[in-house]
Amino acid sequence: MSENSETPFLQAQWIGRPGYRLNNWQFPVWPAPMFRREVALPVDVECAQAFVSGLGYTELYINGARIGDHVLDPVVTKYDQRVRFVRYDVTEHFQRGNNAIGVILGNGWYNCHTPDQWHFDKAGWRDYPKLLLEIRMTLANGEQRLIGSDLTWKVSEGAVRFDGLRNGETYDARCERPGWSEPDYDDVDWEGAVVVPGPGGLLQEQTTPPCKVIETLNPVSVQEIRPGVAVYDMGQNMAGWAQLCVSGEPGTEVVMRYGERLSDNGEVDQSQICHFVKEGECQTDRYILKGQEEEIWEPRFTYHGFRYVQVEGLPDTPTLENLRGRVVHTAFEDIGSFACDNEDLNRVQECTKWSFRGNFVGIPTDCPHREKNGWTGDAHFAAEAGLMNFAVGSSYAQWLETMADTQRPSGQFPGIVPSCGWGYNWGNGPAWDSAYVFIPWYIYLYTGDMMPIRQHYEGVKRYLDFCDSMASNAILSFGLGDWMSFDPEQKTPVALTSTAYYYAHTKMAAKFAELLGKRTEQNNYDAFAEEIKNAFNRTFYKGDGLYADGQQTALAIALYQGLVEDTEKGAVVEKLVETVRAEDFKANFGVIGAKYVPRVLAENGHADAAYRLVAQPECPGWVRWIRDGATTLRESWGDVNSRNHIMFGDVSAWMYQYLAGIQPNAEMPGFKHTIIRPHFVSELDWVKSNYASPFGRIYSGWSRNGSHIDVEIELPEGTSGTFVRPDGESVELSAGYTKLQAA
Ligand code: BGC
Repeated sequence: MSENSETPFLQAQWIGRPGYRLNNWQFPVWPAPMFRREVALPVDVECAQAFVSGLGYTELYINGARIGDHVLDPVVTKYDQRVRFVRYDVTEHFQRGNNAIGVILGNGWYNCHTPDQWHFDKAGWRDYPKLLLEIRMTLANGEQRLIGSDLTWKVSEGAVRFDGLRNGETYDARCERPGWSEPDYDDVDWEGAVVVPGPGGLLQEQTTPPCKVIETLNPVSVQEIRPGVAVYDMGQNMAGWAQLCVSGEPGTEVVMRYGERLSDNGEVDQSQICHFVKEGECQTDRYILKGQEEEIWEPRFTYHGFRYVQVEGLPDTPTLENLRGRVVHTAFEDIGSFACDNEDLNRVQECTKWSFRGNFVGIPTDCPHREKNGWTGDAHFAAEAGLMNFAVGSSYAQWLETMADTQRPSGQFPGIVPSCGWGYNWGNGPAWDSAYVFIPWYIYLYTGDMMPIRQHYEGVKRYLDFCDSMASNAILSFGLGDWMSFDPEQKTPVALTSTAYYYAHTKMAAKFAELLGKRTEQNNYDAFAEEIKNAFNRTFYKGDGLYADGQQTALAIALYQGLVEDTEKGAVVEKLVETVRAEDFKANFGVIGAKYVPRVLAENGHADAAYRLVAQPECPGWVRWIRDGATTLRESWGDVNSRNHIMFGDVSAWMYQYLAGIQPNAEMPGFKHTIIRPHFVSELDWVKSNYASPFGRIYSGWSRNGSHIDVEIELPEGTSGTFVRPDGESVELSAGYTKLQAA
């Protein structure tokens, strides 16, 4: 249990359904269990708090009313080490007399029954859904009541016949149990619940934003591609599900298959997103009608990544009213906006936001359909874009705790978090593991919260010990490196990028040690970083500004991580600009280059070149996706695999930080002091950006006005800033509005 957290469960026991157990070593899939019990209260309730943790996913009802608007709760963790519970104030839901409490549980990540690529079906924590619930009440007569999950509860099944995180959900409305969570319901045919072993993890409160239905989209079109088969286009790639509105004969089955592309015959094509699900359906929901005038249904224990929904079995001619898109993700606040006079860039910004949203359903993921995995590298590459667009710091902090739970005693991490044991010796390497070192730093930088640094410093040290054990003469050569490089033949050597991260992580450990007042450790890490730097330059620097074969990523990472000797810096920058020009400003790199090349160019006096690299419309490049109709960022520069990945998303942070120029200051983190350093690139006439920092709104905007540029800045009360002109000259800013001119 972490400091300050105290378990509220005094009496509750984990309960389950009697028949839900291993059967001859088979793990049959059963319908979602529903639990209930009644409580008679002699007087009114003064206050009541509910604490609930139902694995994998929980919905709580009191007297027929759904409690809260969370979905897919609690957030996934490595359940055998840590389990989140959720607290609700439920005072107003209880009344004098008879009351009923009901809970329905889904399988979620806790019971991944379908074999998949990452062996979640073999997870050590895997078991049937189970419930832990406690309600603490004070009655109007002063009496205290404690109602816990125990043997007095009853359990049965209802309309959710099947639910699988990656498969989808089947709901047979004919099996509904009307009134099941209301008092005086006849539950004689329900079984008594049994006490089951708990999942084993520490119980901790989930204090970060839960997942919610954030937005509802109406489809932009529906095509009946052949009789009985309709394809809906939501107009937007997203994470979530569809809400169905239908009427027809009882027993009619409506099937909804979700995907992000269409095949030539207009059908939803799942071929590129479903090959890792080894058994059963993928991203497919089924609804069986009970035969009422109007039936409205949406799944609750699964989510999908999609733009299109293929619907089969609608009783009548399909209309736009039959389906709506429910956008689901962690309910973090939207805190950033960026716009300029290049519509392509504005679209890149919008697509990044959508990809970020679709890839944060409880945890940061790679894609919302094919994997839904917490790939550490994807989290690392997208983190700054995330923190510039959304108040996501606490959600990252929560996921980092799960990352710590996956760390082996040797210090090693898996490529995905959580992991059931898969992905340790798989090859992820330093650029991926970086999430554990850099995200605590970014949280500090962007929000001022130092807790993650404090919490994970020892883990970072263990991770560096692991790297030491993998290094030869201070060179690290394992890892994925510049993943998704456009031309694999020209990929930057893995040893170069991995050693650059080894250096950056060691410097970061020194920084953490400094912040924590550990002088000796700081000095040791600084000294060791110097050794790595020397080894790096001995191994990869060829003189005349050239690292390795002069790949854009090789040059940019050396510059960005501070590995280049001062005397050589100018030459390396020149070489990078030369290469970028020679390659016609094409993004001839993968995810590492996508983060560092634009940043390094802008920071070293070549913002125009960085801008052209970001804005040019050919493949490889971000704008090619836009011109090809993307509504989210893709996994590769071409159009294979996933169309909703976030790992190329740092470009959004680049726009905020280098075009609008809003940058945090490590000396006064959390935007207590803001650096405003816009780059007035010649191909743009104006830029506007808002950012709701922890202190309040920051605004930075500029526009061309004849021969000069008008700059407008606003800083929140209690903060200050520094405006840096293109020539490096700076002007100190105080809170409030400032108007300046630049040449
Ligand atoms: C994921 C990536 C991830 C990568 C690592 C892929 O399958 O979708 O985004 O980082 O594997 O190799």
